[in-house]
Amino acid sequence: MRVITIASQKGGVGKTTTVHALGTLLSQRGRRVLMIDLDPQASLTVACGVEMGETGMSEVMMGQKLLARVLWEVIPNLYLAPADTRLTQAELVMVGKMGRENILKRAIHALQGSMPADYCLIDCPPSLNLLTVNALTAAEWVMIPTRPEYLGARALQPMMDLIHQAQQELNPELKLLGILPTFFNPRLKHHTEVLAEWERAGLPLLPVQVGQTIRAAEAPLRQLSITDTAPSSKVAEAYRALLTMIEERAQ
Ligand SMILES: Nc1ncnc2c1ncn2[C@@H]1O[C@H](COP(=O)(O)OP(=O)(O)O)[C@@H](O)[C@H]1O
Ligand SMILES: [Mg+2]
Repeated sequence: MRVITIASQKGGVGKTTTVHALGTLLSQRGRRVLMIDLDPQASLTVACGVEMGETGMSEVMMGQKLLARVLWEVIPNLYLAPADTRLTQAELVMVGKMGRENILKRAIHALQGSMPADYCLIDCPPSLNLLTVNALTAAEWVMIPTRPEYLGARALQPMMDLIHQAQQELNPELKLLGILPTFFNPRLKHHTEVLAEWERAGLPLLPVQVGQTIRAAEAPLRQLSITDTAPSSKVAEAYRALLTMIEERAQ
């Protein structure tokens, strides 16, 4: 199983939208996919049409329930481990536990026997907390969606530092898939200049840019991914290209 974490300590950069789009596309290509919502704000859970209750990832992270016991089938082949109302408290409980950085990794391992999946996509909270550290410890790949803005790049450094630390201390297998430019508008000079600057600076940019469309913001209302609500949009096209690239790279 390929485990891919989508992380950034900034909110509103498209993490959840990216997980939902990739999960949906992969399942439609016949892969079995598990999406894990680690954000107490539960955007992915809501976008999938799953009611946030008291059962979900908080119990898994506190060691009270097996991952297999909290899964929902969203569409055929696409499963969601939802966030729930106690995920913020769960983080506080986890801090006091031995092996606290490995809780999610162990939970995913335990699942493999009962529900083998081809991909696991982890949606992180907008913070560099213990939940995100767990997502980095459990993953083989990490991708960072970022808006192509000056301040966006400044926010990258702490994230890159955390990834580096995770590689050193917790998960030597972790690889950076790359930085995914999101909300990209090719007509904005600032966006194109910032991307060019990042390239010059040698940042590991992915070769795909995700544009901006109101259709992406509307999609969660219909409990569908942008790739289903607006399949011919440029954004959906970008996610399909991103997926093809990931499938090639993650061989
Ligand atoms: N490509 C896009 N174009 C327009 N709106 C988008 C796009 N991607 C995401 N959005 C919207 O922007 C908001 C933040 O996106 P989201 O994926 O939730 O980011 P994050 O998980 O990083 O906080 C949501 O309302 C979402 O629907
Ligand atoms: Mg989110």
